[in-house]
Amino acid sequence: MPFGLVSAWNKRRRSKSQDHTDPWIYKHVEFWQLEDQTPQPTKRRQGSAVFTLKEMEEATCSFSDENLIGKGGFGRVYKGTFQSGEVVAIKKMELPPFKEAEGEREFRVEVDILSRLDHPNLVSLIGYCADGKHRFLVYEYMYNGNLQDHLNGIRETKMDWPQRLRVALGAAKGLAYLHSSSNVGIPIVHRDFKSTNVLLNANFEAKISDFGLAKLMPEGKETYVTARVLGTFGYFDPEYTSTGKLTLQSDVYAFGVVLLELLTGRQAIDLNQGPYDQNLVLQVRHILNDRKKLRKVIDPELPRSSYTMESIAMFANLASRCVRTDSSERPSIAECVKELQIIIYTNPKGLRLAMHTLRMV
Ligand SMILES: Nc1ncnc2c1ncn2[C@@H]1O[C@H](COP(=O)(O)OP(=O)(O)OP(=O)(O)O)[C@@H](O)[C@H]1O
Ligand SMILES: [Mg+2]
Repeated sequence: MPFGLVSAWNKRRRSKSQDHTDPWIYKHVEFWQLEDQTPQPTKRRQGSAVFTLKEMEEATCSFSDENLIGKGGFGRVYKGTFQSGEVVAIKKMELPPFKEAEGEREFRVEVDILSRLDHPNLVSLIGYCADGKHRFLVYEYMYNGNLQDHLNGIRETKMDWPQRLRVALGAAKGLAYLHSSSNVGIPIVHRDFKSTNVLLNANFEAKISDFGLAKLMPEGKETYVTARVLGTFGYFDPEYTSTGKLTLQSDVYAFGVVLLELLTGRQAIDLNQGPYDQNLVLQVRHILNDRKKLRKVIDPELPRSSYTMESIAMFANLASRCVRTDSSERPSIAECVKELQIIIYTNPKGLRLAMHTLRMV
């Protein structure tokens, strides 16, 4: 896709978002208004969404190590600060030559899709740089990094149960937006949903990142058959792995794995465990609907005062259905949103605690 066209989309998106004070998600389902969490309109940058290499270098002090915030399959991510003072995350695409074509495609897909999507639970793409061979994506900066680091204790903050429920709900809403027809008119499957792609802003609100692997679902068809299995080990939908059939329900499986990470504080794949205990789903699937055994897998870092067993049991039950092998037996992500809202209401202890914490901040 020509970048001029992408730029035009960005401009249109920005002008649209200015009078877009009431994001339109989920209006058709009255039930979802149970919770008063009116999403705030995303702040939009006023200037151009296309950056030069010089701007990228200046923003990151020439990609200094102090500004390095992470590294993924497609390159390094830097914290950047523009002259205006705006703080951003800059993803620098570093691809081996044999992968360059793929990276280029990936890059354009991401720019294309992200620039058309706008939702409080998706990480905003502020702009991009395509200068010579250099490719960068510029995202809104998420102050609290990725969810996995919080669950694994790399970050100091331990998330309590109400925070985890809110993260689960936010991520579900982001996915539901992708799975609904959204701004692009057809459903989008994320394809690489996982806890490092759930980012947290300064208020611990969840936003989904990395749509580079997403594919637009062909119109009128429920599945997209691909010869190439993409995604991340531990989150693969078993049906997708065996048949190559990608469905929206593949994201629901990955979402279920993230729910299990939130519940247990364990990693989707833990290579430090023995060969039979490495996969979180296989490890806990059989006990998710057994309250007694369930207690043993609850994250020991979770403050006991922050949860009710009722909400834990409902959450575990939802997770167990999301990770069913047969994709037709999994709930839709829209159903997950509804259930999570109910679960939040079955955790009044947590609600009180959250209100108290908010007042203290
Ligand atoms: N917008 C952002 N704001 C703050 N931190 C970010 C942002 N985007 C990415 N990061 C950080 O950089 C890390 C690396 O991100 P990246 O997307 O490149 O890799 P990943 O998600 O960990 O793995 P993969 O390449 O398989 O998707 C993330 O885990 C996150 O901690
Ligand atoms: Mg990522």
